[in-house]
Amino acid sequence: MIRELWKEIDNHYLDLIIKPDPRFEKIQQNCAKAGLPTISVSNIHGQWLKLLARLMGAKHILEIGTLGGFSTAWLASTLPIGGKLISLERDPDRSALARKNLDLFEFQAKVEIWVGDALHNMAEMANIDQPAFDLIFIDGEKSQYPDYLERSIPLSRPGTLIMADNVIKHGSVFNEDLLTPDQKGIGKFHEMVAADPRLEASVLQTVGEKGHDGYSFILVGDSP
Ligand code: DHB
Ligand code: MG
Repeated sequence: MIRELWKEIDNHYLDLIIKPDPRFEKIQQNCAKAGLPTISVSNIHGQWLKLLARLMGAKHILEIGTLGGFSTAWLASTLPIGGKLISLERDPDRSALARKNLDLFEFQAKVEIWVGDALHNMAEMANIDQPAFDLIFIDGEKSQYPDYLERSIPLSRPGTLIMADNVIKHGSVFNEDLLTPDQKGIGKFHEMVAADPRLEASVLQTVGEKGHDGYSFILVGDSP
C-alpha cells in the first residue's frame, strides 16, 4: 500500500518535471524483452544521477555493473565533449544489449563497456595512463562491494565521489539472522569506509517505485 504511494509520487514527478525521454523507455522495453531482472535504477533516480554528474562537472565516470545500460545512459547523457564513461559488465549478452541500448543516443562514442571480471578490469585500469575518475558508481555484485571499494581508490583523486547503490536493500542489511554474502559485503564495505581516514561518507535512504533502498556517498580526500 505504502509502496504504491511511493510509486505514484515517483510517477507524478517523473511526468511533471522530468518528462522522460522515450529512448529511456525503449531501453527498459529492450531489457524486459531480454528477460533481464528489473533492477535498474528508477527513472527519477536516473535523472538524479545525471544532475549529480553535471553538478560535479564529471568528465570521467566509472560504472561497475552495466546490466542493460540504463543508468549508464543517464550518467553518459551529461558528459561534456572529451568526456568518457567506462562501464564494467561480466556478462557478454548483457553488455551486447547495453551497447545496442546506448546506440539509441548520440553519445555512444563516449561510452566504453569493458566485458569481463570487474575486479580484474579495475586492476588493469590502474596500470594504464588515464585521468582519475571524477565519479565512480558501484552497482555490481553486492558481495564484492568491499573489493570494488579497494580497487576504486587507486582510480580516484582527492574530490572523487564514489557512490554505491543498494546499500539498504529493504532494510535487509540489518537482519542479522539473514547474513547473506550480499549483506556481508555491504556491511564490510561500510566498515572499510569507516576505517579509512581518506574517506568521508554518508548514506541516503530512499523510497520509491523500487521500494526502500539507499545510496552511500563517499568522498575521497587527501592521502593522510
Ligand atoms: C537489486 C537492485 C539493484 O539495484 C541491484 O543493483 C541489484 C539487485 C534488487 O532489488 O534485488
Ligand atoms: Mg543497483
